[in-house]
Amino acid sequence: MEFPVRIGAPTSQKTSCAILPIFEGRKIKGVTGEFNTAVKNQLSQLIRSGSSSTKLGQTLLVTQLEGVPADKLLLVGCGKESDFNAKRLSLAISAAAIEISKAGIREATSYLAYGPVQGISEYYASRLTVETAKSVLYRFDEMKSRPLTKSRALRLAIAVNRREKAKEARLGVSHGQAISLGMDIARDLGNRPPNLCTPTHLANESKELARTTKNLKTKILSEQDMKSLGMGALLSVTRGAKEPAKFIVMEYQGGTEKDETIVLCGKGITFDTGGISLKPPPKMDEMKFDMCGAATVIGTMAALGKIQSSLNVIALIPACENMPGSEATRPSDIVKSMSGQTIEIINTDAEGRLILCDALTYASRYNPSLIIDVATLTGACVIAIGHVYTGLFSNNDELSYDLVNAGKRSLDPAWRLPVDDEYGESIESNFADFANSGAREGGASIAAQFLSRFVGKTPWAHLDIAGIAWKTNREKGATGRPVPMLMDFLLNRKN
Ligand code: BES
Ligand code: MN
Ligand code: ZN
Repeated sequence: MEFPVRIGAPTSQKTSCAILPIFEGRKIKGVTGEFNTAVKNQLSQLIRSGSSSTKLGQTLLVTQLEGVPADKLLLVGCGKESDFNAKRLSLAISAAAIEISKAGIREATSYLAYGPVQGISEYYASRLTVETAKSVLYRFDEMKSRPLTKSRALRLAIAVNRREKAKEARLGVSHGQAISLGMDIARDLGNRPPNLCTPTHLANESKELARTTKNLKTKILSEQDMKSLGMGALLSVTRGAKEPAKFIVMEYQGGTEKDETIVLCGKGITFDTGGISLKPPPKMDEMKFDMCGAATVIGTMAALGKIQSSLNVIALIPACENMPGSEATRPSDIVKSMSGQTIEIINTDAEGRLILCDALTYASRYNPSLIIDVATLTGACVIAIGHVYTGLFSNNDELSYDLVNAGKRSLDPAWRLPVDDEYGESIESNFADFANSGAREGGASIAAQFLSRFVGKTPWAHLDIAGIAWKTNREKGATGRPVPMLMDFLLNRKN
């Protein structure tokens, strides 16, 4: 999909379809007003007759119009003009992209962000246009014997009203394209079945990405390497699995040696049965998505590479299956983590924290300025905040603040939850330094508190994406979140 930025008089532009906002109010104003005048008030008639609605996301495709060079007009309800903000722009773009793709239109020009959008710049308006349009048209059909009816290549031009704004809008488009690439990668990896998307597959995909991306290197640690490093917590999770575990290290070096290094850590459980503490059957199929943290991190590395960011970013991905079996770890087993701390395994289904803790310890060799881990870690996080926000836990107020704001700007929001030491009380153990699982109440904070014991004083944030990494039912599939939030955070760090 391409997104050229257009400037110039709207009503004299040649396009297959001009996408126009319809705001509440008696008079059609702004760019839609200009079109209305050019087509001799036919648009106001359509609104008056009730054919076109101002309700957000309602669309009407108008053909056979004279007076403008555009072949068709797509009227998109946008609600009250004074309420039109980034979120509403994104909803309007979604509706328009679906309509255009249904109608088989191959080329269109969007005027939805031509007038001001409350609170955002031209840069964000274009970036969000690209991200939203690409995201809503995403299909996963690589496993179907016959491909789904493909949304054919669409060229969606973005019209801006001032020449000086074109450059900003073009930057938004190029960042939007990179973020979309990252999201598509994250979604493809998440959607692939676990018999295909194994730890080895994640390793191979990461290697392939490095081969085709400047400044990106990948190395893969084997189980033998993990043993030498003393990653006893990670290895305890993979014991029941025949599929070999992999520890993926991706190094993106866009800056100099002197610049800061950021570490991203992604949970890569390619299937979570729960292990000996076996999960009940309902919805167990969804545990193929338990590697969405890893997928997010790989997608983010791809996006950084596409932009050729000037940051130094390391991705660490512990990847394995969590399976039961005669060799599997038992509840009450005690393992030694790479940090030296010993852990009593109370519940083998609390495996995410066990693979992540060794990755967090491994991170210290990079002397990072900050660490962010991303994981589908707890059902408790979903109970707490549902499917809208990422759960954010951190030992650092500034980092939290920056991530929350990145989430707001990118429409990929996170909400901060507590990780105070008191949440560690229920994981005390009579036998080891502590246990891997404790009380049910506050489970997301308990898991985060467990992880905090492996980062020392390094600024760290943990993103629990159990509620937002995938959708269920009819829309079942990976979302590609929180790639937009992470990329927004990284783009604002320096670029
Ligand atoms: N991958 C799951 C978390 C999960 C469950 C994410 C359902 C999304 C939907 C994780 O490994 C897990 O099983 N967590 C347990 C922890 C408990 C045993 C302390 C949970 O949340 O029940
Ligand atoms: Mn589990
Ligand atoms: Zn899990």
